[in-house]
Amino acid sequence: MAVAFRRCLRVASLRLPSFLRRHQRAAFATAAGTSLLAALLLLSPLAQAETVARVASPDGRIEVQLDLNGEGRLAYRVLRDGQPVIRDSRLGFIFRNGRQLLRNLRLDGQASTRVDTTWEQPWGERREVRDHHNELRAHFVEKDGDHRRFDMVFRVFDDGVGFRYDIPRQPALRQAQIVQELTEFAIARPATAWWIPALEWNREEYLYRKTPLAEVGLAQTPLTLRTDDGLHLSLHEAALVDYAGMNLVRGGDGELRAALTPGSPVPVVRATPFATPWRTITISERAGGLVESNLILNLNEPNRLGDVGWFKPSKFVGVWWSLHLNQQSWATGPEHGATTANTRRMIDFAAANGFRGVLVEGWNVGWDGDWFANGWNFDFRKPTPDYDLAGLAAYATAKGVHLIGHHETACAVSHYERQMDSAFALFQRLGIDVVKTGYVCDAGQIERQDAPGGAVLREWHEGQWMSNHHLRVVRDAARHHIAIDAHEPIKDTGLRRTYPNWVAREGARGMEYNAWGRPPNPPEHEVTLVFTRLLAGPMDYTPGIVSLTGRDGQEIQSTLARQLALYVGVYSPIQMVADLPEHYAEHPQAFQFIKDVAVDWDESRVLAGEVGEYVAIARKQRGAPLWFVGAMNDRHPRTLSLVLDFLDPGKHYRAEIYRDGEGADWRGAARFRFVRDDKAVTRGDVLSLWLAGGGGAAIRLVPLDD
Ligand code: NOJ
Ligand code: CA
Repeated sequence: MAVAFRRCLRVASLRLPSFLRRHQRAAFATAAGTSLLAALLLLSPLAQAETVARVASPDGRIEVQLDLNGEGRLAYRVLRDGQPVIRDSRLGFIFRNGRQLLRNLRLDGQASTRVDTTWEQPWGERREVRDHHNELRAHFVEKDGDHRRFDMVFRVFDDGVGFRYDIPRQPALRQAQIVQELTEFAIARPATAWWIPALEWNREEYLYRKTPLAEVGLAQTPLTLRTDDGLHLSLHEAALVDYAGMNLVRGGDGELRAALTPGSPVPVVRATPFATPWRTITISERAGGLVESNLILNLNEPNRLGDVGWFKPSKFVGVWWSLHLNQQSWATGPEHGATTANTRRMIDFAAANGFRGVLVEGWNVGWDGDWFANGWNFDFRKPTPDYDLAGLAAYATAKGVHLIGHHETACAVSHYERQMDSAFALFQRLGIDVVKTGYVCDAGQIERQDAPGGAVLREWHEGQWMSNHHLRVVRDAARHHIAIDAHEPIKDTGLRRTYPNWVAREGARGMEYNAWGRPPNPPEHEVTLVFTRLLAGPMDYTPGIVSLTGRDGQEIQSTLARQLALYVGVYSPIQMVADLPEHYAEHPQAFQFIKDVAVDWDESRVLAGEVGEYVAIARKQRGAPLWFVGAMNDRHPRTLSLVLDFLDPGKHYRAEIYRDGEGADWRGAARFRFVRDDKAVTRGDVLSLWLAGGGGAAIRLVPLDD
């Protein structure tokens, strides 16, 4: 399927504009064919392009211009400080059930609006989010034929651009069967790209590649670029609802083109009226500016769930790492992890240390045998005989702890949908208010069965059908006051604003690869994730493996201090305390930070960072005067100078610093070299922090009574 898909893209990219097709035989027949072609291009309608609409950011530095050329083809470009960031890039669609929507367009009116509002996140990296942008809505109509019409909507912020197609209901386009969206992003400057491949078997779980832009293949988003003159860009999408996820494929000359995730018969089928997801271009001089941007959240619709005070940002422990170490099993039998006795021990551990959640995987019927292949055997309402679900839920409640539910579908998604409402109802009765879901199977192998007993169709994790599935889950879970943490998910596009019970997801190579992945996650991985995958939203990375060792003694390529830094560096409102209780007992100092660190924030700032090299992030605990800092490093030791000007003026703080000890390194016994020290600081101070190769630092800043 992937091969066919690429072939179809190639055909599309070879299609020449009709005026060139008319002239190409003549051009190539002459001895001076090349110069004639050049002359034709100069005289061509492309050269007669006219700017028909424009809109600038509130600070005036970013401008979007929309052009129509002599053929009536529409293009947009993005300038910053008058210099092109995105060159002329086409817009349009190829339909299965109609002519392509691309040429013979004319502008049929436009309207602009200014927005400057502030809204509050129920939980998040910051409490208040300012939405300050200028919007342009431009109406286009075909000059002949069916006179089909659509709007382009652009929102320009001080840190980037979002745009979408908005297609009204109309006689000639009652339903759109979209073969391809022709959106381009023609990057105007040479650049380095950080990206992972799309439509490969292992979904989103790849190590990031760092290549020249010209060597990007078929990539997922978010895709991060740094231009040779130092501008950082992130290409992604916002509000992926009832549509196929957008990948990017490199075209001829620095262009990246939309490549929608396939579906059957086409990537997207929608009745009009509808709007596409927003295509987003975040722009920042600092790498950290990408992380601080609220552009994607701002492009999503406001909260539809009302008060979600029932979701409590929190930390959780669980029967998890031992499964990945192969010490225990999901399946029943002598090694079964999800037993009543085991779970009671984990509840006791959580209660003793102030963690709210206990995740238990393998609690339900269906894991025995080859569970990867047996998704249709899962029963999401039936515990295994050695797991007293109701008794454990009551035991947990009595101790102020909540079990976290687990629904691994192994991609039998229709089977899961038939049970999920009653499964959520069961959990709700038992006080289980967070559920981790899972979609383990190769990409393109999601199983969809529209009617019981009917044909089983295959879908992609990022396709239109799955975009709808995830929202069915999230909406149904919300009715039962349950929050969702999806593994092997569809990409995050900021829908947590609209559905704040969609609290986290995986969608990248997580900590589990340090248990059994070959290779494990290298020191560059997490400092790349911060500037790529994490720009999309929270990740359930499952940090805190203080034993720094995976299966069969595999070394985790991290220092001890860096495991603590992950709690601040990799944002999620639910954070696993993922290692085994006996391993925390061996590292009481480090464990203290894990107990202390917050998971919900009033404010977040990137103090320092370069993509794939290092990052230091400061976050203020929600509703408390405490700050936390997490710093992480690639394999090269370095010293960061952190300006503490985020602290309150006039206040003194005790900085509790958990850092790499002398000689620490990401290899061998040096991984465990670790120092905890205290320092008095104020907002006027600059903290010098040495980070080992593969190292990190975690800091809690506590105001002192004056
Ligand atoms: C893959 C998930 O990422 C992991 O966390 C989980 O334990 C397994 N699937 C089983 O569901
Ligand atoms: Ca996974």
